[in-house]
Amino acid sequence: MVAPGCALRPAGKKKMDYRMLALVAVVAAMTATMGASASVPCMYVFGDSLVDNGNNNNMLSLARANYRPYGIDFREGPPGRFTNGRTMVDFLSDMLGLRPPLLPPYATAAPADLPRGVNFASGASGIRPETGNNLGGHYPLSEQVDHFRSAVRDMSSTPRFRGNATRLAAYLGRCIFFVGMGSNDYLNNYFMTDYYTTAQQYDPQAYASLLLADYAAQLAELYALGARKFVVAGVGNIGCIPYELARMDDDDQPSDPSTPSDDGDNGIVISIGGGGGGDSNSNQKPTTQQQGCNDTINSAIGIYNKGLQSMVRRLNNGSAQQKMRGARLVFLDTVHTGKDLAAHGFTVLDRGCCGVGRNNGQITCLPLQRPCDDRDQYVFWDAFHPTEAANRIYAAKAFNSTSTADAYPINVSQLAAI
Ligand SMILES: *[C@@H]1O[C@H](CO)[C@@H](O)[C@H](O)[C@H]1NC(C)=O
Ligand SMILES: *[C@@H]1O[C@H](CO)[C@@H](O)[C@H](O)[C@H]1NC(C)=O
Ligand SMILES: *[C@@H]1O[C@H](CO)[C@@H](O)[C@H](O)[C@H]1NC(C)=O
Ligand SMILES: *[C@@H]1O[C@H](CO)[C@@H](O)[C@H](O)[C@H]1NC(C)=O
Repeated sequence: MVAPGCALRPAGKKKMDYRMLALVAVVAAMTATMGASASVPCMYVFGDSLVDNGNNNNMLSLARANYRPYGIDFREGPPGRFTNGRTMVDFLSDMLGLRPPLLPPYATAAPADLPRGVNFASGASGIRPETGNNLGGHYPLSEQVDHFRSAVRDMSSTPRFRGNATRLAAYLGRCIFFVGMGSNDYLNNYFMTDYYTTAQQYDPQAYASLLLADYAAQLAELYALGARKFVVAGVGNIGCIPYELARMDDDDQPSDPSTPSDDGDNGIVISIGGGGGGDSNSNQKPTTQQQGCNDTINSAIGIYNKGLQSMVRRLNNGSAQQKMRGARLVFLDTVHTGKDLAAHGFTVLDRGCCGVGRNNGQITCLPLQRPCDDRDQYVFWDAFHPTEAANRIYAAKAFNSTSTADAYPINVSQLAAI
């Protein structure tokens, strides 16, 4: 297997001219300024609201976060992230040595931004095209891939790559392709039975297989466009997010006293889950396991994640498959990493820093609502999304963990160095 990075080395040419020397000098200088870990010149991001950085801002969608207090701790750029500060990929691109560290959203990126990387992620999106339609506009994975295809076309007509598809392919082969998908295929599809019929059509095993077959096809599209280094994030334990905890059957307790009572504008219930909460009163059980997670959901997620990891193992095995030869994939087990967060000093694991109702999870953080002050203590910012503090840990584990339980079979810093 040839490491894609080799393409830039002056291989095979005996006679080195001055232009070549100049190029080598420039590359050496760049490497020196960017630091030892800057082995990666670019990163492209595909995903949902966990990593969206503003692609939905101008869409008719409930899955938007360009209002306060979202971004309350984010001072570097335009709003639109579904958290108080930076997302996991904001930290990752920084750790990878990209400068400036933040990638622009594709929706507002300039042509000159494309070679360094852009973010195609879109809140509410999923692997399946219908996922998230309950929330309005968004870009499903296949459309995010289409956007990347357009970006490649645009790059191929710039002076740097014009008439040299091989050079562009070699360049893209050195980039990191982060793909984080699937949460909404459960939250805003399979487990939203009022809107979707997938749960009637498929059992969890069949549904996971369906998702993974679609997913593999999209990854193959990216591969065909030049992608070689993939970071594929599993779905977190969404049976434990405040939104699901708020919907557990034993919800006959008083709502949180800090809940604002003057929700006169409840026309804007920005619930990423769409259900708006409070609709799960059937089958009341004794209120004994308030801290328990929803095992039905976590078990479906477990099936999906296991399948995704097998897919990564299979695609990494050059001798077992002909497709995606030479691709290197890293699987991030966010369930495992998430279970570790208590050990990193977080004290509030089961409620959002900003939100309404039980666990601050019944309705997500509303415009101008006052969030908690001690945001570094909370794993969850709102009913669905981690805080910046948690995102920092997710990124650090992905990048640097010495355990294959976090990043499999290698970590992102190793992937970058290949
Ligand atoms: C877990 O979630 C599923 C799907 O939303 C729901 O049908 C079930 O009642 C929940 N389980 C509990 C214990 O609340
Ligand atoms: C790779 O695939 C081959 C052929 O299917 C198989 O024999 C081998 O065990 C696989 N290796 C790994 C590490 O999975
Ligand atoms: C990665 O690990 C090394 C060695 O433990 C450490 O020096 C470095 O700060 C870590 N990098 C990140 C981004 O966590
Ligand atoms: C991951 O990264 C660190 C430093 O970046 C490295 O030392 C370590 O060996 C890697 N982990 C694994 C599992 O190989």
